[in-house]
Amino acid sequence: MEYFVKSSNPEKQRVACVVVGIFDRRAPSAAAETIDRESKGLIASVMRRGDMDGKLGATLLLHNVPGIFADRVMLVGLGKERAFDDAAYRKACQAAAAALRRTGAIDAVSYLPHVEVKDRDFHWNVLHATLTTEAEFYRFDECRGEEARKALNEHKLERLTFDVPRRSDLPSGERGLKEALAIAAGHRLTKDLANLPGNLCTPTHLAEAAQKLAEKYPLKVKVLEESDMERLGMRSLLSVSRGSRQPPKLIVLEYLHGAKGDKPVALVGKGLTFDAGGISLKPSDKMDEMKFDMCGGAAVLGAFVAAAELKLPINLVGVIPASENLPDGAANKPGDIVTSMAGITIEVLNTDAEGRLILCDALTYVERTYDPAVCIDMATLTGAIVVALGGGPSGLFSNNPALARAIIQAGEYTGDRVWELPMWPEHDELIKSEFADIANIATRGGREAGAIIGATFLHRFTKKMKWAHLDIAGTAWVGKRASGRPVALVTQYLMDYAAKK
Ligand code: BES
Ligand code: MN
Ligand code: ZN
Repeated sequence: MEYFVKSSNPEKQRVACVVVGIFDRRAPSAAAETIDRESKGLIASVMRRGDMDGKLGATLLLHNVPGIFADRVMLVGLGKERAFDDAAYRKACQAAAAALRRTGAIDAVSYLPHVEVKDRDFHWNVLHATLTTEAEFYRFDECRGEEARKALNEHKLERLTFDVPRRSDLPSGERGLKEALAIAAGHRLTKDLANLPGNLCTPTHLAEAAQKLAEKYPLKVKVLEESDMERLGMRSLLSVSRGSRQPPKLIVLEYLHGAKGDKPVALVGKGLTFDAGGISLKPSDKMDEMKFDMCGGAAVLGAFVAAAELKLPINLVGVIPASENLPDGAANKPGDIVTSMAGITIEVLNTDAEGRLILCDALTYVERTYDPAVCIDMATLTGAIVVALGGGPSGLFSNNPALARAIIQAGEYTGDRVWELPMWPEHDELIKSEFADIANIATRGGREAGAIIGATFLHRFTKKMKWAHLDIAGTAWVGKRASGRPVALVTQYLMDYAAKK
């Protein structure tokens, strides 16, 4: 689909569909009022008949509206005018996109960006109108059979224009569109990889997907093999992959378009392509969802796509440890002790706490190789974060308040939100091991504060760099579908970082 930003009158649009908002209690938005006037009160009469009450997310399609040039008018419920906030705006845009997808219209102009959202400008309005539309139009049909794929009903819509009130709003609207399309390209790659099942999305597949990026964008990709990792002493990571027939990969990306010598921003993502738990086997209920345990890694790739699409003038590096976690004769056994690349010895008391075992070596690698200005890791690390925060915010942990603040702000702006949790010295006490330097789970307090324990473990490997950890176990997928989070959040952070430079 092609998108445009324009500024013109709703009644003069020669398109298949014009989209306008209606607040509850039958209060039309300004664009709806214009159409009502030009059509001699048609909208008011439709509302009087009770077919559109302005309930948030409701839609109604009108054909052959007199006095205007467009073939159709779509009314979209906006809910209560007083309560029209970020979430309401996004919901209205999403409902409009879903309804447009079902029509035969090949082009449309949406006046939803005209509607005022508290504390937001037209840059934000167009950004989110585009992001929600792109999300609504996304499908994952790669794994359907040929017949089924043929029968899929494709949408007719080819061109969608977001209108802004004044010509002077065009530059900010266009910037919002451009940023949204870059983020949406990242979302698409992240979701495609995440939705792909474990037998197809292996560590090798992830590595190949990364290498493909280097063909399309000005970035370098290097893939470290098992033997390379052995040489580097990544015995924590390798202890996880040893239980699998799929060879592990350490995927390294370099996008260096900032000033020469500027320390890079580092992104690290958990690329566990299937997590059965290992010898500490998971229960079978919902185990299929553990194909999503590579969402952190996929989000790193998505963020690279967005950064490259936007041609951000920054130095950016990425590291994705990729492995499976399966039960096997060679797999980690509870009580095994391994030595990480950092030299810290780890007692593996639960083989299902494997994310931290592969991430710790990736963090050491990134710190020693790149000495990054900041490092952000993203990982579906703990079920505990889902209990603590649900599906709203991702969990945020950081050793640097300014970095945490920047991430929180980027999350608020993109709606890809985070909530910070603490890491205190008393938590560090809880990963003391009887025999090794640390254990990979809490040795006291049972399952209490599980997400904090996971972050605290990683913190041991990030003493020198400014670092933040995003626990995305509750947000990377919804139901059985990948969400693309936290690509928007991370891309926004990178844009803000580039702007500050
Ligand atoms: N990948 C899981 C975390 C997870 C669980 C994400 C459920 C999404 C939904 C991770 O590797 C894991 O198994 N963590 C354990 C840690 C525990 C053994 C300390 C968990 O959360 O149960
Ligand atoms: Mn696990
Ligand atoms: Zn896992």
